[in-house]
Amino acid sequence: MLIVAYLLGSIPSGVIIGKLFFHTDIRDAGSGNIGTTNTYRVLGPTAGTIVMAMDILKGTLAAAQPVVLYHMSNRYTLLVGLAAILGHTFSIYIGFKGGKAVATSAGILLAYNWEFFLIASAIMFSLVYLTSMVSVASMASLTIVSLIAIFGYRDPILSVVAVVLTIFIFYRHRTNIGRIKAGTESMVPFGVGYHR
Ligand code: G3P
Repeated sequence: MLIVAYLLGSIPSGVIIGKLFFHTDIRDAGSGNIGTTNTYRVLGPTAGTIVMAMDILKGTLAAAQPVVLYHMSNRYTLLVGLAAILGHTFSIYIGFKGGKAVATSAGILLAYNWEFFLIASAIMFSLVYLTSMVSVASMASLTIVSLIAIFGYRDPILSVVAVVLTIFIFYRHRTNIGRIKAGTESMVPFGVGYHR
C-alpha cells in the first residue's frame, strides 16, 4: 500500500497537463513549482483547476486503499496517505523533485473524513480570497486545521498527521517565506487581496 501510494503521489499532474495540452514545462515557468498555483499562474484557471483536482484525487485514492481494498480501519488512511505526500514532493518520475503538497494533503484528508476536508477547503479558499497569496493561505490554513484537529475534533491521529503536514508544508514553502519577508511574493489574480 505504501509503495502504491508513493507511486500514485509521484504522478506529476502539473508537468503532464502542461506538456500534453500547452507544450509547456511548468518547471521552467513562473515559480517553477509543479502544483495548482503555478499552473493557474502560467497556464490559466482551467489547467490550474484540473491539476488541483488530479492532485487531490491521487491523494484520496492512495489514502483510501486500506479501507477500500483491505477493509482496514479508517485511521490507516492518513498514515498510508503520507506516502503519497512523499511521492508528490520527491517524485520518482521527475528526478525526485516535486511540489509543495497542499492539494495532495487535502486529498488524504478527504479519504479520512469528508466533513473535515470541507472545513479545511473552506478555510483555504477564504484565505486565498482574502490574501490572493496561495503560499500564505496554505501555511495559515494548515496551522488552523491542525488547531481544529487538536482542540475541536480531539482526534489523536488526525492531530499528529495535521501537525506533521503543517511543519512539512512550512518547510516546503521556505523560498516563499523568503519572498513574503522581502515583500516580493507573487499573487494570484483571485480575491480581494490582488493587486499588481
Ligand atoms: O501550493 C503551492 C503554493 O502554496 C505556492 O505555490 O507556485 O507560488 O510557489 P508557488
